[in-house]
Amino acid sequence: MAISAGGGDREKWGSRLGFVMAAAGSAVGLGNIWSFPYKAGENGGAAFLLLYLACVILVGLPVMLTELIIGRRSEKNPVGAYALLKPGTPWFLVGGVGVAAGFIILSYYSVVAGWVLGYFIESLGGTMARLENAEALSAYFDAFAANPWKAVGYHFAFMALCVLIVIQGVKGGIERWSKILMPVLFLLLITLVLRGLTLPGSMGGVRFLFAPDWSKLNAETFMAALGQACFTLSIGMGAMITYGSYMSRRDNLTTASLQVSVMDTMIAVMAGMAIFPAVFAIGLQPGEGPGLLFKTLPSVFNQMPGGAVFASLFFFLVVIAAITSGISLMEVVTAYMVDERGMSRRKAAVIFGGVIFVLGIPSALSSGASPFFTDFLGSGQSFFDWAFHISADYMLPVGALLCCVFIGWAVGSRTAVAEVRDGNPAFTTAPIWSFLVRWLSPFLVAQILLFGVLGEFEGQAVQDFSRLLMSWLVKFDVVLAVLFFLGSGWYLIFGRGRTRA
Ligand code: PHE
Repeated sequence: MAISAGGGDREKWGSRLGFVMAAAGSAVGLGNIWSFPYKAGENGGAAFLLLYLACVILVGLPVMLTELIIGRRSEKNPVGAYALLKPGTPWFLVGGVGVAAGFIILSYYSVVAGWVLGYFIESLGGTMARLENAEALSAYFDAFAANPWKAVGYHFAFMALCVLIVIQGVKGGIERWSKILMPVLFLLLITLVLRGLTLPGSMGGVRFLFAPDWSKLNAETFMAALGQACFTLSIGMGAMITYGSYMSRRDNLTTASLQVSVMDTMIAVMAGMAIFPAVFAIGLQPGEGPGLLFKTLPSVFNQMPGGAVFASLFFFLVVIAAITSGISLMEVVTAYMVDERGMSRRKAAVIFGGVIFVLGIPSALSSGASPFFTDFLGSGQSFFDWAFHISADYMLPVGALLCCVFIGWAVGSRTAVAEVRDGNPAFTTAPIWSFLVRWLSPFLVAQILLFGVLGEFEGQAVQDFSRLLMSWLVKFDVVLAVLFFLGSGWYLIFGRGRTRA
């Protein structure tokens, strides 16, 4: 068994299951339950779902494995990891961008988590259960998010919870809690799916989510799907590098990344199946935006026996899912300060928790009355949307792309494959993974980023060019993807064991 470049004396997860639970806890969060349905609603439903699934398989899964490799090999935070594996080069900057992305993401993530926390507390008093119809519930959410005291107050409360947990270290409490609470969330989602599907008029929602309308596809849809895939899997900013750095050399990195990705995707699709049938049954629009979750599900609860109890339980579990993701974002920043700046864990968590709270205030005020935040810099977007767009649609994909180039080319996939063989001596999918990381994933990400950048320009000529380019590249991509799946299938059935990468 090789020793890691980091020297092997870093603190480790309690158990294999502990890692999978913590990593799944990082991945499963608001991205699945809140943003997946609302992004799908804004971007054409089923067409978005398919693109998102393609991004998860062709980019998300290989990058997750790559980040775990970087983490376990270096036993460091993202900045230290890149620096250690390629000393004396500017690669450490990629880790730095990741840490910065962590700051930005947690700043607005905590605002949404604050809404969920608020809904949980209000549901205990039965507030939503007393509202009579979908319009009243929808107006209730708008007023709730626009109330600066509530928005900022709950945002503060959520950040405080994250800081408290990170100070104590992640192992004990959260690992144990996640193991019990995640399955409960899963069961509750199934109940909601069943109730949603049996509401009169719900089939429109099923069609919306599963019958693609390709005319809805454009540069923004591609970008949103890739951004969502990176966001929901917690990749592209070093969260998985950080969590990987606490893994043991006996852990099987491929199985872990597969388990986490599958769980995460299942929860997102289930959230979509809980929400869209309800949207259609109660006559809301799928493109409601960030309020979608808060406007639809309370209506479904109100139509269930014992709905008020289920509502409290549901929002409680979503708070937990958000906390296990929030602390992974905090952990990236904290690990950096502890490893690189020699700060104590407690000091790092308190100071940076405070900084992130302040950074999040503009996002908390973005659903309110002040045009400064609701129409940030005259962009037509709120500060909140803007921060989300920049971090998820640009910073994470760029981080994922550079991570592929780093391992595929700069460090070399041989070293990486050897790292995986500790814990998974066979690693039969090595050639497939290497091909993805060196070629296909970076190519797809670069392309989507290019469309995204072109899409930010208004000029007609740019738009025409972009559309033409896209129509050709998309055909090319489909051919590539089909060849890739055929080739991989062939390799797995006939070529296995004969080649060792
Ligand atoms: N994956 C988390 C979610 O879906 C969000 C997250 C993004 C966490 C990036 C860590 C890093 O809610």
